[in-house]
Amino acid sequence: MRIERAPCFRGRFTLPGDKSISHRAALLGALAEGETRVRNYSSGADCASTLACLRELGVAIRQEASAVTIAGGGPGSWRAPAAFLDAGNSGSTIRMLAGALAGRPFRSVLTGDESLRRRPLERVAAPLRAMGATVLTTDGRPPMTIEGGGLRGMTHDLPVASAQVKTALLLAGLQAEGVTTVREPAPGREHTERMLPLFGVSVRRERLSAAVSGGARLRGADVDVPGDASSAAFLVVAALVLPDSEVRLERVLLSPTRTAFLEVLRAMGGRVETRLEADDPEPVGSIVASSSRLHGTTVDPALVPSLIDEVPALAAAAAFAEGPLTVTGAGELRVKESDRIAALAEGLVALGARVREMPDGLVVERGAGLRGARVRSRGDHRIAMALAVAAMAAEGASEIEDSDCVAVSFPEFFAVLARGTGRA
Ligand code: S3P
Repeated sequence: MRIERAPCFRGRFTLPGDKSISHRAALLGALAEGETRVRNYSSGADCASTLACLRELGVAIRQEASAVTIAGGGPGSWRAPAAFLDAGNSGSTIRMLAGALAGRPFRSVLTGDESLRRRPLERVAAPLRAMGATVLTTDGRPPMTIEGGGLRGMTHDLPVASAQVKTALLLAGLQAEGVTTVREPAPGREHTERMLPLFGVSVRRERLSAAVSGGARLRGADVDVPGDASSAAFLVVAALVLPDSEVRLERVLLSPTRTAFLEVLRAMGGRVETRLEADDPEPVGSIVASSSRLHGTTVDPALVPSLIDEVPALAAAAAFAEGPLTVTGAGELRVKESDRIAALAEGLVALGARVREMPDGLVVERGAGLRGARVRSRGDHRIAMALAVAAMAAEGASEIEDSDCVAVSFPEFFAVLARGTGRA
């Protein structure tokens, strides 16, 4: 994709449904009895992978544009898959589905694309084994074979903050004997805990823990998915770093565990306002961001689990700020769809920023000013979008290699950029 310097970024947008919420709505709908109707289901390839895996397990799913209807028959209606379950690029699909499958008395093999086959699975495999499932990984990575059933509830202390692993263990816990409690080292996204009551299941929650009882039956529900908070981050940053810009994003997910990036952007001097319009089951509202003179800041490592997917967007913003942005406590970025620390450093340096890599984070500075260059996404959707936003505000033209990967979470991304810059 060729990106020219844009004069401004303006407009009012509603975004496709949040990826994290969409995955969960599909999984819970497939475990429930009765019909689940999901509106504004994510258009991203990751969420299509979740639906494809569920269909392979015998779940009846209809989709018309962004409306997804699941005719749930309860977990007992799931059938042994005839083929490998292909999660594509989606870590959420493979990890969360593993939890649901740990309760099913048949064998499945889960795998994914080249990037997913490099990502760690023992964090989910080990606790599922402790509950009684048979789980085999390939040197800790996909392909992963699961033969489930006969689970015992237990208390898990997660060594790394991971909402995917927490969700997997809660989905296994719903099918286990007794109570399953998951304790996290730091607050992370809590969409599963907020969504389960909608499906008629109660969750006992404390600040850093969630517990479910086994044998609970889920009832089909209606889920209206708010706009994707992580996709919003790239558009917010585009409006902040370009001149004469203002963007208004409507009906976006505003959960505090997803919008910590807005706090960091405000601490950097960004003019960003949010207006909460609804709060149940998730906070939803609008975001307005406009051109700002940004400066650096140091991100509190305690906030990192609540902005882990937005570090690429924040790093792009920092490439236009006065003084350094420092992010630490983010070693998880090295095992995302790509090594995001290395990918950001390479791409932003090619565009003229100064970046210092650390094992668990990075420091980004503006340097002499950004100018167009040819940069690599490494097949990672969030790297492609972060570099595209930086390129839009750089002097001259850039080229993003392998930019099609934006379809993993936000297929409409380049069309939205074109509209916002008056080029559509
Ligand atoms: C997600 C959790 C995070 C995040 C991912 C989506 C989720 O991963 O990076 O994009 O929906 O639960 P971890 O659970 O590995 O931290």
